[in-house]
Amino acid sequence: MDLSYFTNKLSAGLAELRYGDQPISLYEPIRYIMGLGGKRIRPLLTLLGAHLFTDDLDAIVKPALATEVFHNFTLLHDDLMDQAPLRRGQATVHEKWNPNVAILSGDVMLVRAYELLFDIRPELLAHVLRRFSQTAAEVCEGQQWDMNFETETEVSIAQYLDMIRLKTAVLLGFALELGALLGGASREDADHLRQFGVGIGLAFQLRDDLLDVYGDAATFGKRVGGDIVSDKKTYLLLTAQAQANAAQRAVLAQHIGQPVPDAEAKVQAVRAVYDELEIRPQTEQLINKYFLDALQHLERVVAPETRKKPLHQLALQLLERES
Ligand code: IPE
Ligand code: IPE
Ligand code: MG
Ligand code: MG
Ligand code: MG
Repeated sequence: MDLSYFTNKLSAGLAELRYGDQPISLYEPIRYIMGLGGKRIRPLLTLLGAHLFTDDLDAIVKPALATEVFHNFTLLHDDLMDQAPLRRGQATVHEKWNPNVAILSGDVMLVRAYELLFDIRPELLAHVLRRFSQTAAEVCEGQQWDMNFETETEVSIAQYLDMIRLKTAVLLGFALELGALLGGASREDADHLRQFGVGIGLAFQLRDDLLDVYGDAATFGKRVGGDIVSDKKTYLLLTAQAQANAAQRAVLAQHIGQPVPDAEAKVQAVRAVYDELEIRPQTEQLINKYFLDALQHLERVVAPETRKKPLHQLALQLLERES
């Protein structure tokens, strides 16, 4: 089965979603952000997780979209927190409207995300809501670590990895687990799929951090260099700090944690140190390692190999993505 079979189902489901009407200033930003597209990987993971165990995906589209609406809620708040000007190649909601709009439209999206889960089979409902709530709280924890680390100087790579596990990877894990549960998987298989999702989620966020430095703004759709400007403690920066010689350490110290008179000069100076230290191939190696580790969990899921193909294909696409 081709990936487009699943994306078509999602597009049809998305077109049917209704968020609300009045006040327009609450709901229009939701239609705006949801209408900007994006890769839709979380609901895709839910459908692909379910597809391992069932052909009956129609009832799974709505709950799958809960993960996408939730994700878009986090983007509204994340862009405000990160002071990001661009999202999916367009103005962010707090820029196009204002910060209060980004907060409240985001809040109601979280509520709508829960509602999209209401119709799942009663025997699964309590468990799924509990897991969703746990995941959502973890995303907030990861986001707060990410913000805390901006002003901390002694962040370890282990702390960074735990932060990205929380802010990004657990939601990919939940999306797969949800699909597995709704498709009728055993709890054991659902947990392997969750762990597969967490693994590719770590690789996914590492790739995002790499693209933030080396991506092409036109395809990435976000401001390139934003993480450097806001002193994000990414794997790239932490590795550079650990491997820098005295001169390189001085360049990093001169720019990181300092007020920025010239953001572009800061990005260029830090990127030059990354280039000298070959941080890019080192990051790519770690991405590959997480990908291979994750695949072991997919292999352990009891389902026909042919049904695992689209998941493999998607995971590979994510590994090599430019957007
Ligand atoms: C962006 O997520 C936030 C991260 C976790 C890196 P995506 O890269 O999935 O964004 P869209 O939905 O495709 O725009
Ligand atoms: C993504 O972190 C985490 C969440 C949105 C929860 P980033 O801050 O790196 O995401 P982008 O790069 O803005 O999409
Ligand atoms: Mg951000
Ligand atoms: Mg952020
Ligand atoms: Mg990012």
